[in-house]
Amino acid sequence: MRNVSEVFDAGEGVEVELRGWVWRKRSHGRLLFIDLRDSTGVIQVAVNAGRVGPESFEEASKASRESSVLVRGIIAHDPRAPGGVEVRCTYFKTIGQSLDDFPIRKGVTSRVLYDNRHLYLRSPRVTAVMRIRSNLIWAVHEFFRSRGFVEIDCPTLVTAAVEGGATLFEVNYFGKKVYLTQSVQFYQEAAIYSLERVYSIQPSFRAEKSRTTRHLTEFWHVEAEMAYAGFEDLLKTIEELVRYIVIRVDELSKKELRTLGRRIRTEEVEGPFPRITYAEALDILRRHGVDAEWGIDIGADEEKIISGEFEKPVFLTHFPKKLKAFYHKPDPSNREVTLSADLLAPRGNGEIVGSGVRIDDYEELRSRILEEGLRPEDYYWYLDLRKYGSVPHAGFGMGVERVLKWILDLPHVRMAAPFPRTPTRIQP
Ligand code: 4AD
Ligand code: MG
Repeated sequence: MRNVSEVFDAGEGVEVELRGWVWRKRSHGRLLFIDLRDSTGVIQVAVNAGRVGPESFEEASKASRESSVLVRGIIAHDPRAPGGVEVRCTYFKTIGQSLDDFPIRKGVTSRVLYDNRHLYLRSPRVTAVMRIRSNLIWAVHEFFRSRGFVEIDCPTLVTAAVEGGATLFEVNYFGKKVYLTQSVQFYQEAAIYSLERVYSIQPSFRAEKSRTTRHLTEFWHVEAEMAYAGFEDLLKTIEELVRYIVIRVDELSKKELRTLGRRIRTEEVEGPFPRITYAEALDILRRHGVDAEWGIDIGADEEKIISGEFEKPVFLTHFPKKLKAFYHKPDPSNREVTLSADLLAPRGNGEIVGSGVRIDDYEELRSRILEEGLRPEDYYWYLDLRKYGSVPHAGFGMGVERVLKWILDLPHVRMAAPFPRTPTRIQP
């Protein structure tokens, strides 16, 4: 058994047997052209009534779009075929006939495409994006594994907010109100007291009604936490991770990038990433006519202006305390700002990483919890971590779909998720 991609590499006259689906079909009377799709690509199959038996020709004539089929034939190099290769059919059998017209057609609206995401997944371009996504996850594992990080699987059902109460999804847990987690950070922090350096790749949830091109309500989150790490170690690790995955995904995805007609701009991750403080970012915004007072949130519009000044990903550091979650450690040289950093991707793509040094002192953390109007008893175990052998530590979170949107130039993060969830989309 061979697959489509092997056929392109094989020689003239070789006999093949393929299993796939009818992607497109053209009929010229006694000659049919079927574009056969499998997990590795699309190839033209020529079914000539003069070469195959009458039963095979009849089956091929009846096979509608997206029917699953088995094809035997001979490889022929023919400049008229797409990619210069076709299979001249000797035997054709339908395995599962399509019962209806396939809803995914040229020119349908994106609404139709995403109502039918379960079928739209079959399109060669979507297939390419999903393979690249898989390569990206692979590269993340390679990076962390090669640096002594241990993967840890954390719960999704939680009892308290990590990133503030406003974006929590509630779940009825046998009558008790619990939530879908926004981040596994707190569990990772518990794990560093034995494993020291941990990472996770899990879904996170945000009940954000924002209808932008970069928000999902469920996204895949790469997170890492490191014992004894300071601010420099943190930024260095983030920068190395981002550089590694961009270069590695490019290496692993040559074929898929050709299918998409895309080039990954690996030059964007060469050399050190620029860093600016929040205060410096306000200066940039003011130069662009934004009324940027100390304390304003850096939203999508502001990020676009700031990242527009740089050709590489840029670290935005030292956010004011009041803009960041309670666990962020204040900068000892200016306690109004935190040892925090967001990484903004170039070309207006905005934040792809959020990070920071954590408060490691028990009393300080407790008073920050109270200051934010939260209840220390909801965070009893998180506080405990500062009670028994606390250590300085830092960590970060990176959104998988945001990174793919950036490196593949996708117009919307939903294109990077197999089954995207947005405020208006929960099916299929
Ligand atoms: O900046 P965030 O909210 O940080 C945290 O959750 C930290 N607890 C992570 C940590 O330090 N362990 O989220 C981190 C990243 C963002 O930079 C973004 O890439 C992604 O998660 N993200 C989203 N991606 C898609 N849709 C959303 N609604 C997202 N919210 C965050
Ligand atoms: Mg953030």
